[in-house]
Amino acid sequence: MATTLGHDTAEDIPGLTTTRAPFIEAARAHGELYIEQPYDLYNGENHEAWRQLFARMGDRWQRYANPRFLQGVETLCLDPSAVPRLEDVNKFMAPRTGFKAKAVSGYVPAYLFFDSLRKREFPTTITIRDAGRLDYLPEPDIFHDIAGHVPMHTDPAFADALVRFGEAAQTAVHIVKRIKDPDEQVRRTTSIMKAMARFFWFTVEFGLMRAPDGKGVKAYGSGLLSSYGELQHSIESPMVQRYPIQLEWVINQYFEIDHYQPLLFIVESFEHLFEQVGVLEDWMKQGKLDNVSPGEPSLSEVDVRSFIEASA
Ligand SMILES: [Fe+2]
Repeated sequence: MATTLGHDTAEDIPGLTTTRAPFIEAARAHGELYIEQPYDLYNGENHEAWRQLFARMGDRWQRYANPRFLQGVETLCLDPSAVPRLEDVNKFMAPRTGFKAKAVSGYVPAYLFFDSLRKREFPTTITIRDAGRLDYLPEPDIFHDIAGHVPMHTDPAFADALVRFGEAAQTAVHIVKRIKDPDEQVRRTTSIMKAMARFFWFTVEFGLMRAPDGKGVKAYGSGLLSSYGELQHSIESPMVQRYPIQLEWVINQYFEIDHYQPLLFIVESFEHLFEQVGVLEDWMKQGKLDNVSPGEPSLSEVDVRSFIEASA
């Protein structure tokens, strides 16, 4: 049997590459969302992709990542040379915040995803991008999820903000439940979800935070922290507009996922982020998320149904 850490070729082991992973295709065909991480299926190319991604991020993280992220990377003891085992990651993360990475076969419908956060579970992609295509890709992979998101989950204040976001999703379900007219139910659910998705995007995925010394900003959003090019661009480029977070702006601001973000928002601290999630939830209760501006992100029927079905 081939070893997992050797330099096997793609012919020896099928691999778990974003573009080609027979194991994942089979899981999806069987409707299995939560899966085991079949570690032996990673081939040499997959480990090489991880090694290259990890190696080139080192300096950029030191320069542009917020200090809690850097601590998180250390806490997780990630191996620079091999795709991580979720089991090992959880061994270091769970004792700190209770968060656990849980392997999934693909896209998790919005409500299920947010509700997982409430339960301190993080649905985690286990495929990895093609070694020949290391730069930004719109869909998540294990580098984005484990090297971009999970180090932040070792921080108690950030973890609490995520849980509070999951609780806000539950509040949304209670609100949706009270709407009797089916068309109105879909319309308001879509608007509330759009607001939530925008908030999540401009904070958890692409958030900036004031540096602890008050000078400049650092990244805490996973989309930035897992992108070699965009991490530097987000902090250095004059092409990016950076503003203190304003909730009424965030929830009405469309975004596109296929290019570097031209507009980013800054929080003061994770306590500030936590508080903003609370305001989002209050606004939801007051009906202020019922008519947000149209435009991206467009929500799939699966996402909208996931909220409505949870309310049934
Ligand atoms: Fe993400």
